[in-house]
Amino acid sequence: MQKTAVTDHAVHDLIRNRWSPRAFSDKPVEPTVLASLFEAARWAASSYNDQPWSYLVATKDDPENFTKMVGVLVEFNQNWAKNAPVLAISVARRNFAHDGTPNRNAQYDTGAATALLSVEATARGLVVHQMAGFDPEKARKTFGIPEGWDAMAAIAVGYPGNPDSLPPKLKDRELAPRTRKPIREFVMTGSWGHTAPFAAK
Ligand SMILES: Cc1cc2nc3c(=O)[nH]c(=O)nc-3n(C[C@H](O)[C@H](O)[C@H](O)COP(=O)(O)O)c2cc1C
Repeated sequence: MQKTAVTDHAVHDLIRNRWSPRAFSDKPVEPTVLASLFEAARWAASSYNDQPWSYLVATKDDPENFTKMVGVLVEFNQNWAKNAPVLAISVARRNFAHDGTPNRNAQYDTGAATALLSVEATARGLVVHQMAGFDPEKARKTFGIPEGWDAMAAIAVGYPGNPDSLPPKLKDRELAPRTRKPIREFVMTGSWGHTAPFAAK
């Protein structure tokens, strides 16, 4: 299933076609494809080229690791994400590697890396669903995430599945239209609250 965005302005098909489903096929993700997804993350821009992101990854063919990963998700997310063939957690390093000072863009850069991963996944017919609904401190303990690094988001990756595989409430959400604020609400110029003319219509 696809859920192409109905956009107000022209964008690349990869942007229109990326979305966050909850139904996954049980088809595994080939290791070479997984490597390409993280290669895409690798080439994200970052402040000072610090590359403050890391990822913990669990594939379903490693049941012990996969079960640990499912265990850090909140119950709502466990219900559907346990069916994805790959789960991951993005982790951001708080301080710069070169001088140890706080990197106020570490989380921003880590999100950017995952956004590129999502676009690469879309280009390969895969889907990605990020999740804030997990316990970061449980993740720290479970996977030994060191001090100075913070778990940011859990990530489900796989091939799209059949919405009929979901419980009724989740199926309704899966089929609901995708919505966004118009760009006039967040693109400003000159001073806060002043919509940029090109974004006004
Ligand atoms: C950082 C982040 C956290 C999210 N957390 C959850 C979550 O815990 N559970 C969930 O079902 N979806 C989660 N989502 C998915 C969003 O609800 C989804 O991206 C949003 O509704 C827009 O839909 P789209 O990605 O299909 O365009 C999260 C997305 C992001 C980027």
